[in-house]
Amino acid sequence: MKILGISGSPTKNGNNEKAINDFLEIFSKKKFEVEKIFLSQYKINPCLSCGVCDKQKKCFQQDEMTKLLPLLENADAIIVSSPTYFGGVSGQLKSFFDRTILLRRNGFLLKNKIGGAIAIGHARNGGQEYTIQNIHTWMHIHGMIVVGDNNHFGGILKTPIKKDKEGLKSVKDLANKICETLKKFNPPLVP
Ligand SMILES: Cc1cc2nc3c(=O)[nH]c(=O)nc-3n(C[C@H](O)[C@H](O)[C@H](O)COP(=O)(O)O)c2cc1C
Repeated sequence: MKILGISGSPTKNGNNEKAINDFLEIFSKKKFEVEKIFLSQYKINPCLSCGVCDKQKKCFQQDEMTKLLPLLENADAIIVSSPTYFGGVSGQLKSFFDRTILLRRNGFLLKNKIGGAIAIGHARNGGQEYTIQNIHTWMHIHGMIVVGDNNHFGGILKTPIKKDKEGLKSVKDLANKICETLKKFNPPLVP
């Protein structure tokens, strides 16, 4: 089974990329296949609402997003981490989200994948829960199965994350919850 981790931060080697690396390490240790998308490595244009993907599974804009759509389609679980920017997801992540409409319009290709969210802010209460809600909303609109950390909404962290023990625990708990959910749906396939 494949776990895809996505960092929505423009910062290379920043807190969000570390959170995704830590998260995926838990799954690698359990012998799952892992894959990641760090948006700091890509230039993704915003959706232009041109309507081309209403008629065919193709985007009018042939930018780096074309490489990323198959990774989403092939994942069994998708975990998204975003920096909290003015109480919501980063602009980079919002553009990425909007460009996935092609997958929804051509057969709900993310339907029933398991989804989880992580939000990171500089302040303890800087809007991480709203940011998680943005991510969960994207997942629900794709028909995904959204899970939290078995306590609240998912991974909630304050920078610098390596000092945020409670936040790191919420990321670990989210990983365990996703693992349990995958097991429940696909017992023979889960390592
Ligand atoms: C444009 C901008 C807006 C921000 N808004 C918030 C905010 O509303 N709440 C908050 O706690 N932190 C805010 N921050 C801090 C970022 O959330 C924080 O630097 C980020 O999560 C660090 O992750 P990174 O190292 O992966 O970039 C903001 C930072 C920027 C650049």
